[in-house]
Amino acid sequence: MNILVTGGAGFIGSNFIYYMLKKHPAYRIVCIDALTYAGNLETLEKAMENPNFRFFKGDITDRKAVYALFEEEKFDAVVNFAAESHVDRSIEEPEIFLKTNILGTQVLLDASRKYGNIRYHQVSTDEVYGDLPLDRPDLFFTEETPIHTSSPYSASKASADLLVMAYYRTYGLPVTISRCSNNYGPYHFPEKLIPLMLINALEGKPLPVYGEGLNVRDWLYVEDHCKAIDLILHKGRIGEVYNVGGHNEKSNIEVVKTLLRILGKDESLIRYVKDRPGHDMRYAIDPTKIQNELGWEPETSFNDGLRKTVNWYLANTAWWQNIVSGDYMSYYEKMYKDR
Ligand code: NAD
Ligand code: DAU
Repeated sequence: MNILVTGGAGFIGSNFIYYMLKKHPAYRIVCIDALTYAGNLETLEKAMENPNFRFFKGDITDRKAVYALFEEEKFDAVVNFAAESHVDRSIEEPEIFLKTNILGTQVLLDASRKYGNIRYHQVSTDEVYGDLPLDRPDLFFTEETPIHTSSPYSASKASADLLVMAYYRTYGLPVTISRCSNNYGPYHFPEKLIPLMLINALEGKPLPVYGEGLNVRDWLYVEDHCKAIDLILHKGRIGEVYNVGGHNEKSNIEVVKTLLRILGKDESLIRYVKDRPGHDMRYAIDPTKIQNELGWEPETSFNDGLRKTVNWYLANTAWWQNIVSGDYMSYYEKMYKDR
Protein backbone atom coordinates (compact mmCIF):
# COMPACT_ATOMS: atom_id res chain seq x y z
CA MET A 1 0.00 0.00 0.00
CA ASN A 2 1.05 3.58 -0.65
CA ILE A 3 -0.45 5.78 2.09
CA LEU A 4 -0.54 9.56 2.31
CA VAL A 5 -0.29 10.76 5.91
CA THR A 6 -1.06 14.45 6.29
CA GLY A 7 0.24 16.42 9.29
CA GLY A 8 2.86 13.75 9.98
CA ALA A 9 5.38 16.19 11.44
CA GLY A 10 3.02 16.81 14.36
CA PHE A 11 2.33 14.79 17.48
CA ILE A 12 -0.06 11.98 16.52
CA GLY A 13 0.80 11.92 12.80
CA SER A 14 4.49 11.27 13.54
CA ASN A 15 3.66 8.54 16.03
CA PHE A 16 1.39 6.99 13.38
CA ILE A 17 4.16 7.08 10.77
CA TYR A 18 6.56 5.24 13.12
CA TYR A 19 3.82 2.77 14.04
CA MET A 20 3.00 2.02 10.38
CA LEU A 21 6.62 1.75 9.19
CA LYS A 22 7.20 -0.85 11.91
CA LYS A 23 3.91 -2.72 11.59
CA HIS A 24 3.81 -2.77 7.77
CA PRO A 25 7.46 -2.70 6.62
CA ALA A 26 6.45 -3.19 2.98
CA TYR A 27 4.16 -0.14 2.88
CA ARG A 28 5.23 3.18 1.41
CA ILE A 29 4.32 6.17 3.58
CA VAL A 30 4.32 9.68 2.16
CA CYS A 31 3.91 12.58 4.58
CA ILE A 32 2.66 15.99 3.54
CA ASP A 33 3.10 18.67 6.19
CA ALA A 34 3.19 22.47 5.97
CA LEU A 35 5.57 22.62 8.98
CA THR A 36 3.53 25.19 10.87
CA TYR A 37 4.64 26.09 14.42
CA ALA A 38 3.38 22.60 15.45
CA GLY A 39 5.27 20.66 12.77
CA ASN A 40 8.85 19.64 13.39
CA LEU A 41 11.13 17.88 10.93
CA GLU A 42 13.41 16.72 13.74
CA THR A 43 10.53 14.52 14.84
CA LEU A 44 10.76 12.63 11.54
CA GLU A 45 14.56 12.31 11.48
CA LYS A 46 14.52 8.54 12.04
CA ALA A 47 11.72 7.99 9.50
CA MET A 48 13.82 9.80 6.87
CA GLU A 49 16.34 6.94 7.05
CA ASN A 50 13.68 4.50 5.84
CA PRO A 51 13.61 4.14 2.01
CA ASN A 52 9.84 3.52 2.19
CA PHE A 53 9.24 6.98 3.62
CA ARG A 54 9.01 10.29 1.79
CA PHE A 55 8.50 13.75 3.28
CA PHE A 56 6.84 16.43 1.16
CA LYS A 57 6.60 19.99 2.49
CA GLY A 58 3.21 21.29 1.43
CA ASP A 59 -0.05 22.81 2.59
CA ILE A 60 -3.24 20.73 2.33
CA THR A 61 -5.14 23.87 1.32
CA ASP A 62 -2.86 24.25 -1.74
CA ARG A 63 -5.00 22.42 -4.29
CA LYS A 64 -2.39 22.55 -7.07
CA ALA A 65 0.38 21.07 -4.92
CA VAL A 66 -1.92 18.42 -3.46
CA TYR A 67 -3.21 17.34 -6.88
CA ALA A 68 0.34 17.14 -8.24
CA LEU A 69 1.36 14.90 -5.34
CA PHE A 70 -1.65 12.60 -5.85
CA GLU A 71 -0.96 12.45 -9.61
CA GLU A 72 2.66 11.46 -8.96
CA GLU A 73 2.19 9.03 -6.07
CA LYS A 74 -0.99 7.09 -6.99
CA PHE A 75 -2.01 6.65 -3.35
CA ASP A 76 -4.08 3.71 -2.12
CA ALA A 77 -5.20 5.51 1.04
CA VAL A 78 -5.17 8.88 2.76
CA VAL A 79 -5.10 9.45 6.53
CA ASN A 80 -5.75 13.07 7.39
CA PHE A 81 -4.16 14.29 10.63
CA ALA A 82 -3.23 17.77 9.35
CA ALA A 83 -5.02 20.40 11.40
CA GLU A 84 -4.75 23.35 13.64
CA SER A 85 -5.26 21.43 16.86
CA HIS A 86 -5.06 23.73 19.89
CA VAL A 87 -8.34 24.95 21.43
CA ASP A 88 -6.75 28.01 23.12
CA ARG A 89 -5.28 29.22 19.82
CA SER A 90 -8.66 28.76 18.12
CA ILE A 91 -10.20 31.10 20.69
CA GLU A 92 -7.59 33.77 19.88
CA GLU A 93 -7.54 33.37 16.08
CA PRO A 94 -10.29 31.18 14.62
CA GLU A 95 -9.76 31.87 10.90
CA ILE A 96 -6.79 29.59 10.22
CA PHE A 97 -8.76 26.75 11.89
CA LEU A 98 -11.54 27.12 9.36
CA LYS A 99 -9.07 27.31 6.48
CA THR A 100 -6.92 24.31 7.36
CA ASN A 101 -9.42 22.06 9.10
CA ILE A 102 -12.38 22.55 6.76
CA LEU A 103 -11.05 23.77 3.41
CA GLY A 104 -7.92 21.61 3.69
CA THR A 105 -10.09 18.56 4.28
CA GLN A 106 -12.18 19.48 1.24
CA VAL A 107 -9.08 19.65 -0.99
CA LEU A 108 -8.01 16.18 0.21
CA LEU A 109 -11.51 14.79 -0.38
CA ASP A 110 -11.58 16.26 -3.89
CA ALA A 111 -8.14 14.83 -4.65
CA SER A 112 -9.21 11.43 -3.31
CA ARG A 113 -12.21 11.47 -5.66
CA LYS A 114 -10.28 12.71 -8.67
CA TYR A 115 -7.38 10.25 -8.45
CA GLY A 116 -9.32 6.98 -8.25
CA ASN A 117 -11.89 7.07 -5.45
CA ILE A 118 -9.14 6.58 -2.87
CA ARG A 119 -9.79 5.14 0.59
CA TYR A 120 -9.97 8.14 2.94
CA HIS A 121 -9.71 8.23 6.72
CA GLN A 122 -10.44 11.40 8.71
CA VAL A 123 -8.81 11.76 12.13
CA SER A 124 -11.42 13.57 14.15
CA THR A 125 -11.97 14.22 17.84
CA ASP A 126 -14.39 13.57 20.69
CA GLU A 127 -14.68 17.37 21.01
CA VAL A 128 -17.27 17.36 18.20
CA TYR A 129 -19.76 15.97 20.75
CA GLY A 130 -19.38 18.96 23.10
CA ASP A 131 -19.11 18.04 26.76
CA LEU A 132 -20.78 16.00 29.50
CA PRO A 133 -21.75 17.17 33.01
CA LEU A 134 -19.56 16.17 35.96
CA ASP A 135 -22.54 14.92 37.99
CA ARG A 136 -23.59 12.31 35.38
CA PRO A 137 -20.74 9.75 35.36
CA ASP A 138 -23.17 7.31 33.69
CA LEU A 139 -23.11 9.35 30.43
CA PHE A 140 -20.61 8.68 27.61
CA PHE A 141 -20.15 9.82 24.00
CA THR A 142 -21.34 7.19 21.55
CA GLU A 143 -21.19 7.50 17.75
CA GLU A 144 -24.90 8.49 17.93
CA THR A 145 -24.33 11.43 20.30
CA PRO A 146 -25.37 14.62 18.47
CA ILE A 147 -22.68 17.00 17.26
CA HIS A 148 -22.69 19.95 19.68
CA THR A 149 -19.47 21.95 19.50
CA SER A 150 -18.06 24.52 21.94
CA SER A 151 -14.89 26.09 20.48
CA PRO A 152 -13.92 27.33 17.01
CA TYR A 153 -11.54 24.33 16.94
CA SER A 154 -14.25 21.75 17.60
CA ALA A 155 -16.66 23.54 15.25
CA SER A 156 -14.07 23.32 12.45
CA LYS A 157 -13.42 19.61 13.12
CA ALA A 158 -17.17 18.90 13.16
CA SER A 159 -17.59 20.77 9.86
CA ALA A 160 -14.86 18.63 8.34
CA ASP A 161 -16.60 15.46 9.57
CA LEU A 162 -19.86 16.57 7.95
CA LEU A 163 -18.03 17.17 4.66
CA VAL A 164 -16.42 13.72 4.84
CA MET A 165 -19.82 12.07 5.31
CA ALA A 166 -21.29 14.20 2.49
CA TYR A 167 -18.58 12.92 0.10
CA TYR A 168 -19.49 9.38 1.10
CA ARG A 169 -23.22 9.83 0.59
CA THR A 170 -23.08 12.00 -2.54
CA TYR A 171 -20.05 10.63 -4.40
CA GLY A 172 -19.57 7.22 -2.82
CA LEU A 173 -16.04 8.08 -1.62
CA PRO A 174 -14.89 5.20 0.66
CA VAL A 175 -14.47 7.06 3.93
CA THR A 176 -14.20 6.38 7.66
CA ILE A 177 -13.91 8.74 10.62
CA SER A 178 -12.32 8.15 14.04
CA ARG A 179 -13.17 10.35 17.02
CA CYS A 180 -10.56 9.95 19.70
CA SER A 181 -10.19 11.34 23.20
CA ASN A 182 -7.11 13.22 24.52
CA ASN A 183 -3.80 11.63 23.52
CA TYR A 184 -0.47 11.86 25.32
CA GLY A 185 3.01 10.47 24.65
CA PRO A 186 6.27 11.29 22.81
CA TYR A 187 6.51 14.31 20.47
CA HIS A 188 3.52 16.08 22.09
CA PHE A 189 3.85 19.83 21.46
CA PRO A 190 4.38 21.66 24.79
CA GLU A 191 1.37 23.97 24.44
CA LYS A 192 -0.88 21.07 25.54
CA LEU A 193 -1.60 20.16 29.17
CA ILE A 194 0.69 17.17 29.82
CA PRO A 195 3.89 18.32 28.08
CA LEU A 196 3.39 21.91 29.24
CA MET A 197 3.09 20.89 32.89
CA LEU A 198 5.91 18.37 32.58
CA ILE A 199 8.35 20.89 31.08
CA ASN A 200 7.34 23.73 33.43
CA ALA A 201 7.83 21.41 36.40
CA LEU A 202 11.26 20.33 35.12
CA GLU A 203 12.21 24.00 34.77
CA GLY A 204 10.76 24.91 38.19
CA LYS A 205 8.15 27.23 36.61
CA PRO A 206 4.54 27.65 37.85
CA LEU A 207 1.94 25.18 36.53
CA PRO A 208 -1.08 27.14 35.22
CA VAL A 209 -4.21 25.10 35.95
CA TYR A 210 -7.36 26.60 34.39
CA GLY A 211 -10.28 27.30 36.73
CA GLU A 212 -10.39 24.83 39.60
CA GLY A 213 -8.73 22.03 37.63
CA LEU A 214 -11.89 19.90 37.86
CA ASN A 215 -12.44 19.47 34.10
CA VAL A 216 -12.16 15.85 33.08
CA ARG A 217 -10.39 14.42 30.04
CA ASP A 218 -10.30 10.78 28.90
CA TRP A 219 -6.57 10.10 28.31
CA LEU A 220 -5.23 7.60 25.78
CA TYR A 221 -1.60 6.71 25.09
CA VAL A 222 -0.86 7.81 21.51
CA GLU A 223 0.24 4.36 20.30
CA ASP A 224 -3.20 2.96 21.20
CA HIS A 225 -4.77 5.63 18.99
CA CYS A 226 -2.39 4.72 16.12
CA LYS A 227 -3.36 1.07 16.46
CA ALA A 228 -7.05 1.99 16.27
CA ILE A 229 -6.54 4.01 13.08
CA ASP A 230 -4.58 1.17 11.46
CA LEU A 231 -7.43 -1.24 12.31
CA ILE A 232 -10.11 1.10 10.98
CA LEU A 233 -8.13 1.70 7.78
CA HIS A 234 -7.88 -2.02 7.08
CA LYS A 235 -11.05 -3.47 8.60
CA GLY A 236 -13.41 -0.59 9.36
CA ARG A 237 -16.78 -0.46 7.64
CA ILE A 238 -16.96 2.21 4.94
CA GLY A 239 -19.12 5.21 5.81
CA GLU A 240 -18.80 4.58 9.56
CA VAL A 241 -17.62 6.62 12.53
CA TYR A 242 -15.59 4.91 15.29
CA ASN A 243 -15.09 6.41 18.75
CA VAL A 244 -11.67 5.69 20.29
CA GLY A 245 -11.00 5.95 24.03
CA GLY A 246 -9.95 3.75 26.91
CA HIS A 247 -12.25 4.67 29.84
CA ASN A 248 -9.47 6.59 31.51
CA GLU A 249 -11.08 9.72 32.89
CA LYS A 250 -8.97 12.03 35.03
CA SER A 251 -9.49 15.58 36.27
CA ASN A 252 -6.79 18.03 35.19
CA ILE A 253 -5.63 18.58 38.74
CA GLU A 254 -5.29 14.82 39.23
CA VAL A 255 -3.10 14.61 36.10
CA VAL A 256 -0.93 17.53 37.22
CA LYS A 257 -0.48 16.11 40.73
CA THR A 258 0.39 12.65 39.33
CA LEU A 259 3.02 14.23 37.08
CA LEU A 260 4.52 16.11 40.03
CA ARG A 261 4.67 12.88 42.01
CA ILE A 262 6.47 11.03 39.20
CA LEU A 263 8.93 13.92 38.85
CA GLY A 264 9.44 14.24 42.60
CA LYS A 265 8.41 17.93 42.48
CA ASP A 266 6.39 19.96 44.95
CA GLU A 267 2.69 20.81 44.57
CA SER A 268 3.50 24.41 45.52
CA LEU A 269 4.30 24.90 41.80
CA ILE A 270 0.56 24.71 41.00
CA ARG A 271 -1.21 28.03 40.19
CA TYR A 272 -4.93 28.23 39.58
CA VAL A 273 -5.44 30.72 36.73
CA LYS A 274 -8.33 32.25 34.76
CA ASP A 275 -10.46 29.62 33.06
CA ARG A 276 -10.61 28.92 29.32
CA PRO A 277 -13.72 30.59 27.79
CA GLY A 278 -16.38 27.98 26.92
CA HIS A 279 -14.27 25.33 28.70
CA ASP A 280 -15.69 21.83 28.10
CA MET A 281 -16.31 20.13 31.45
CA ARG A 282 -15.97 16.42 30.78
CA TYR A 283 -15.12 14.14 27.85
CA ALA A 284 -15.76 10.40 28.10
CA ILE A 285 -15.78 7.97 25.20
CA ASP A 286 -17.84 4.80 24.89
CA PRO A 287 -15.54 2.60 22.74
CA THR A 288 -17.94 -0.39 22.51
CA LYS A 289 -18.28 -0.20 18.71
CA ILE A 290 -14.55 -0.39 17.89
CA GLN A 291 -14.07 -3.06 20.57
CA ASN A 292 -16.87 -5.26 19.27
CA GLU A 293 -16.36 -4.76 15.53
CA LEU A 294 -12.57 -4.52 15.28
CA GLY A 295 -11.32 -6.08 18.51
CA TRP A 296 -9.49 -2.90 19.54
CA GLU A 297 -8.37 -2.60 23.17
CA PRO A 298 -6.03 -0.03 24.69
CA GLU A 299 -2.76 -1.66 25.78
CA THR A 300 -1.05 1.01 27.87
CA SER A 301 -2.37 1.95 31.31
CA PHE A 302 -2.28 5.62 32.35
CA ASN A 303 0.42 5.00 34.97
CA ASP A 304 2.68 3.16 32.50
CA GLY A 305 1.95 5.65 29.71
CA LEU A 306 2.68 8.66 31.88
CA ARG A 307 5.93 7.16 33.13
CA LYS A 308 6.97 6.31 29.55
CA THR A 309 6.11 9.86 28.52
CA VAL A 310 8.08 11.44 31.37
CA ASN A 311 11.07 9.22 30.53
CA TRP A 312 10.82 10.19 26.87
CA TYR A 313 10.88 13.92 27.71
CA LEU A 314 13.80 13.38 30.09
CA ALA A 315 15.73 11.49 27.40
CA ASN A 316 14.89 13.97 24.63
CA THR A 317 15.54 17.36 26.19
CA ALA A 318 17.03 18.75 22.95
CA TRP A 319 13.74 18.09 21.11
CA TRP A 320 11.62 20.22 23.47
CA GLN A 321 14.31 22.74 24.38
CA ASN A 322 14.53 23.74 20.69
CA ILE A 323 10.77 24.36 20.74
CA VAL A 324 10.43 26.25 24.00
CA SER A 325 13.34 28.55 23.21
CA GLY A 326 11.82 30.01 20.01
CA ASP A 327 8.44 31.56 19.09
CA TYR A 328 6.94 29.47 21.85
CA MET A 329 8.14 32.02 24.42
CA SER A 330 6.08 34.83 22.83
CA TYR A 331 3.08 32.48 22.64
CA TYR A 332 3.48 31.64 26.31
CA GLU A 333 3.79 35.31 27.28
CA LYS A 334 0.68 36.22 25.31
CA MET A 335 -1.48 33.37 26.66
CA TYR A 336 -0.38 33.26 30.31
CA LYS A 337 0.89 36.73 31.25
CA ASP A 338 -2.46 38.18 32.40
CA ARG A 339 -4.17 34.95 33.39
P1 NAD B 1 -0.42 18.80 16.05
O1 NAD B 1 -0.85 20.22 16.18
O2 NAD B 1 0.63 18.26 16.94
O3 NAD B 1 0.06 18.53 14.54
C1 NAD B 1 -0.60 19.04 13.43
C2 NAD B 1 0.32 18.89 12.22
O4 NAD B 1 -0.41 19.36 11.07
C3 NAD B 1 1.60 19.72 12.31
O5 NAD B 1 2.71 18.95 11.90
C4 NAD B 1 1.36 20.86 11.34
O6 NAD B 1 2.55 21.37 10.74
C5 NAD B 1 0.45 20.19 10.31
N1 NAD B 1 -0.39 21.16 9.58
C6 NAD B 1 -1.12 22.17 10.11
N2 NAD B 1 -1.73 22.86 9.12
C7 NAD B 1 -1.38 22.25 7.95
C8 NAD B 1 -1.69 22.49 6.59
N3 NAD B 1 -2.49 23.50 6.23
N4 NAD B 1 -1.18 21.66 5.66
C9 NAD B 1 -0.35 20.63 6.01
N5 NAD B 1 0.00 20.37 7.28
C10 NAD B 1 -0.51 21.18 8.24
O7 NAD B 1 -1.77 17.96 16.16
P2 NAD B 1 -2.03 16.53 16.82
O8 NAD B 1 -2.27 16.70 18.26
O9 NAD B 1 -1.00 15.59 16.33
O10 NAD B 1 -3.43 16.16 16.15
C11 NAD B 1 -3.47 15.51 14.88
C12 NAD B 1 -4.92 15.29 14.49
O11 NAD B 1 -5.58 14.51 15.49
C13 NAD B 1 -5.73 16.58 14.39
O12 NAD B 1 -6.58 16.47 13.29
C14 NAD B 1 -6.53 16.64 15.68
O13 NAD B 1 -7.74 17.32 15.49
C15 NAD B 1 -6.75 15.17 15.95
N6 NAD B 1 -6.89 14.77 17.37
C16 NAD B 1 -5.95 15.15 18.29
C17 NAD B 1 -6.06 14.68 19.61
C18 NAD B 1 -5.04 15.07 20.65
O14 NAD B 1 -5.23 14.73 21.83
N7 NAD B 1 -3.94 15.69 20.32
C19 NAD B 1 -7.13 13.85 19.96
C20 NAD B 1 -8.08 13.50 18.99
C21 NAD B 1 -7.93 13.95 17.69
O1 DAU C 1 -10.26 15.53 23.22
C1 DAU C 1 -9.41 15.56 22.12
C2 DAU C 1 -8.75 16.92 22.02
O2 DAU C 1 -7.79 16.97 23.07
C3 DAU C 1 -8.08 17.16 20.68
O3 DAU C 1 -9.08 17.20 19.69
C4 DAU C 1 -7.29 18.47 20.68
O4 DAU C 1 -6.58 18.62 19.47
C5 DAU C 1 -6.30 18.42 21.83
O5 DAU C 1 -5.59 19.64 21.91
C6 DAU C 1 -7.02 18.16 23.15
O6 DAU C 1 -7.86 19.28 23.53
P1 DAU C 1 -7.96 19.80 25.05
O7 DAU C 1 -8.42 21.20 25.03
O8 DAU C 1 -8.67 18.81 25.89
O9 DAU C 1 -6.37 19.69 25.42
P2 DAU C 1 -5.39 20.67 26.20
O10 DAU C 1 -4.13 19.91 26.43
O11 DAU C 1 -5.30 22.01 25.59
O12 DAU C 1 -6.12 20.83 27.62
C7 DAU C 1 -6.47 19.72 28.41
C8 DAU C 1 -7.16 20.23 29.66
O13 DAU C 1 -6.22 20.95 30.46
C9 DAU C 1 -8.28 21.21 29.37
O14 DAU C 1 -9.33 21.01 30.30
C10 DAU C 1 -7.65 22.58 29.59
C11 DAU C 1 -6.62 22.30 30.68
N1 DAU C 1 -5.39 23.14 30.64
C12 DAU C 1 -4.70 23.22 29.48
C13 DAU C 1 -3.56 23.99 29.40
C14 DAU C 1 -2.80 24.10 28.10
C15 DAU C 1 -4.95 23.79 31.79
O15 DAU C 1 -5.58 23.70 32.87
N2 DAU C 1 -3.82 24.55 31.70
C16 DAU C 1 -3.11 24.69 30.56
O16 DAU C 1 -2.09 25.45 30.56
